[in-house]
Amino acid sequence: MQKETVKPIRSGEIWPDNQGVHINAHGGGMLYYKGTYYWYGENKSDSTSKAMVGIMCYSSQNLTDWKNEGTVLPVELNDTTSDIIQGCVMERPKVLYNAKTRKFVMWFHLELKGKGYAAARSAVAVSDSPTGPFQYLRSGRINPGILPFDMTAGQRSILDTLQPEHFREWWTPDWYKAVTEGLFLKRDLQGGQMARDMQLFVDDDGKAYHIYSSEDNLTLQIAELSEDYLSHTGKYARMAPAGHNEAPAIFKKDGIYWMITSGCTGWAPNEARMFSAPGIWGPWTQHPNPCIGPNAELTFGGQSTFVLKVPGKDNAYLFMADIWRPKKPSDARYIWLPIQFKNGIPYIEWMDSWTLDSFFE
Ligand code: DGJ
Repeated sequence: MQKETVKPIRSGEIWPDNQGVHINAHGGGMLYYKGTYYWYGENKSDSTSKAMVGIMCYSSQNLTDWKNEGTVLPVELNDTTSDIIQGCVMERPKVLYNAKTRKFVMWFHLELKGKGYAAARSAVAVSDSPTGPFQYLRSGRINPGILPFDMTAGQRSILDTLQPEHFREWWTPDWYKAVTEGLFLKRDLQGGQMARDMQLFVDDDGKAYHIYSSEDNLTLQIAELSEDYLSHTGKYARMAPAGHNEAPAIFKKDGIYWMITSGCTGWAPNEARMFSAPGIWGPWTQHPNPCIGPNAELTFGGQSTFVLKVPGKDNAYLFMADIWRPKKPSDARYIWLPIQFKNGIPYIEWMDSWTLDSFFE
């Protein structure tokens, strides 16, 4: 790593790329590959949050100076049968490098054009190079016909008793209980589980996991990916049932898995949540909001999107979040703050301006 990281990070401000244009990579994620950081994100246009351009990539050696590598997965302009026709929704792209296949694998949240957020699909694309072009493969719901691997016989027998017609009214205590027990999991069993806001995570053993807001955004699910990262193995678990979490961002420190999420309030900010677990499959324990100080109760106006563990450093974890601007989506801003630790517990405090030097010392 070169040590020329003197430019400050100024969360919430315009962040010009190498062409002097505000970086357009929202709901983003980061890949480190052979000495270069690649930042993938949603291209947002001035007037709509729908995908008019596609998925962007920027590259950097120092995390502060970013080169626009262009649209690595463009929307389809002509083929109206394509899932990714212009005007669809492509959100929260994340890219992994698969060392076995030597391919770069992108997953993202896809909503079909004209269908609002009803499709709740995951889509996958693949490339030989981190800067694309990515070849679109397919989209769909997740693990059709399969129940979570860790459901007990008792939980399955409760699931058998759940009847949707008994729970037509949402948000009642009985409905919450039924959602916790798997009302929507059961509803979607045949067609596959819903997946909206999402994250990818590769564990130390190279296994990759897909974490997504499922069951109408009420419950997170964690699903194992195949060895080539291109499909799901069928092994998955539910997390924080009926907890209404979006925007999962995950990292691992000293053997503990930490997940930061948000609540579900559309583009408006809300209070971040944090969970920890001794293993990827849980059990997950909820902690207080990791953000501290002024505006912490609104995650400083942002919503989590990724945590970057700076490679080779024990204590360098970067919290990335989006400040959405739904009236002018392209003007959305980025929050980048260091994750700090007190007695092993992560916390995040606002800094108007800071440098990444401490990450690279
Ligand atoms: C909040 C999600 O986190 C975003 O990615 C996006 O899906 C918006 N909701 C849409 O309202």
